[in-house]
Amino acid sequence: MIYDFTYENPTRIHFGKSAMSYLAEELKAYGKNVLLVYGKNSIKATGLYDQIMNILHECGKTVFELPGINSNPRYAQVMEGAHMVRENGIDFILAVGGGSVIDCTKGISVSSYYEGDAWQYYWVENGPIVNKTIPFAAVLTMAGTGSEMNATSVITNEEKKLKIGRTFPLWEMSPKFSIMNPELTYTVPIRQMVSGIYDIFSHLMEQYFSGDDDCTTDYLTEGVMLSLINAARKALINPEDYEARSNIMWCATMGLNRILGLSKTQDWEVHKIEHQVGAYTDCPHGIGLAIISPAYYRYIYKYGLPKFIRFAKSVWHVEEKGRSEDEIALEGISRLETFIKELGITQTLRDIGATEEMLPLIAQSTAPGGGYKKMNAEDIMVVLRKSF
Ligand code: NZQ
Ligand code: ZN
Repeated sequence: MIYDFTYENPTRIHFGKSAMSYLAEELKAYGKNVLLVYGKNSIKATGLYDQIMNILHECGKTVFELPGINSNPRYAQVMEGAHMVRENGIDFILAVGGGSVIDCTKGISVSSYYEGDAWQYYWVENGPIVNKTIPFAAVLTMAGTGSEMNATSVITNEEKKLKIGRTFPLWEMSPKFSIMNPELTYTVPIRQMVSGIYDIFSHLMEQYFSGDDDCTTDYLTEGVMLSLINAARKALINPEDYEARSNIMWCATMGLNRILGLSKTQDWEVHKIEHQVGAYTDCPHGIGLAIISPAYYRYIYKYGLPKFIRFAKSVWHVEEKGRSEDEIALEGISRLETFIKELGITQTLRDIGATEEMLPLIAQSTAPGGGYKKMNAEDIMVVLRKSF
């Protein structure tokens, strides 16, 4: 652990089958006017909406609703919520859904009382928080992003064709609490479930593929990777396997609550590329990541060869068997690709609606960065072509 760090996390987690029983008690700490933010129709179809409305009313809350949050939430929806907060004197926001609903809620919380262009100031310029924010919490219905225990908000600006993730100061923009009952994820469609699973795996890799020191964080990450692979296989066979779904849910939270980023310089270029692929195609986030990852890792592995060898051996149990170092590293990436196929995820950017004309636009609008290899627009173009 060679790099200094300070770790804390302000989000209280209620995890398991009894998690919802904590909601009423938690709500007591906040004011009367509650904005309920949710997605298209899943929470009504599952009965969760009625359950939560009952709890809110029993707690004497006046409830305002912002339904219809898109997967890949739009800045226009953030603005709609911000308007509702100001109009109705909202004291507290409850997000019920997956990463999109929670990210949109964070956006609403921080933008409501910002005077000016919040998109430009908070997401583009990464400005410090200068206005009142609204406390919020989450009832998580889909595992993947880790948004339930972090201060990141990923928003798509449709007009500007930009999807930007902004990590805010922890204490202002983390959920006050998150209710996490893995049973709520049983109804997630398989395509979304595997998207979430791959998103988690990608978060683990983005943090793991950096540095060459002997670091406790890497050992922890390998453990979470192994747990996730195991649980994913079980959940594919039986989506109502509580053990598997609960492990997936906790892997997701662990994947992005900063624990597995401690003392790591990290990479995140696959995410940056995917965000722009998402801005152009509106694909599910994890699907985009899965399509890009094999090409990206084959492009950069030579620059971090020892770590890719370790990944192959520790996570995918690749044996040496007279293989060269390059062959071991590449075999690890091939096993990752096989796992993506096992999840049933499509393999090419074309499958998710990308066109050849979009590729240079995506490459040029992706923020340069990278881990073992610094990536520029030309490098990104190579990865995009290989994924096309
Ligand atoms: O809209 P409804 O009807 O609710 O359906 C949703 C949505 O269509 C459905 N769903 C969720 N829970 C369900 C369910 N359907 C049935 N039963 C349930 N229990 O699932 C669909 C996808 O939901 P969404 O919230 O979009 O998925 P996810 O959690 O993967 O969030 C993706 C967004 O988060 C961002 C992504 O870029 C993307 O915009 N990310 C956020 C991060 C963060 N805040 O830290 C980091 C990530 O890397 C990621 O970028
Ligand atoms: Zn992600």
